[in-house]
Amino acid sequence: MEAILEKYKSIAEGDVSVWFKVTTVDEFPEDGGLCIKYKDKQIAVFNFTRKNKWYACQNVCPHKMEMVLSRGMLGDSEGIPKIACPMHKKTFSLETGENLNGDLDAIATYPVKIKDGFVFVGFEE
Ligand code: FES
Repeated sequence: MEAILEKYKSIAEGDVSVWFKVTTVDEFPEDGGLCIKYKDKQIAVFNFTRKNKWYACQNVCPHKMEMVLSRGMLGDSEGIPKIACPMHKKTFSLETGENLNGDLDAIATYPVKIKDGFVFVGFEE
């Protein structure tokens, strides 16, 4: 199970070397996410319309290793944007990846940028 998690490492915007073009902004649901594949990774990308922000994180939930976070519920915990796993409602900060309602490992988060109507997610390679 841990082998699945090993390929997901948070990336700071300053460390991005590849901006992967996902799709157009209007392909995304409002206040919802899509799952994309980049190399061997599944990444959940979110259009958090209520906050006018975009986020990306690993799609795999570290609780039961289910590839489900893109289908989770977006929310806010004292100003921290969060995603709640649709399976058992573990919640994670979309900024730091921290598990906000338990002691699971943090999830990896990735920078997102919008340019000319397209969504890009940042990776190191
Ligand atoms: S699989 Fe995500 S909370 Fe259980």
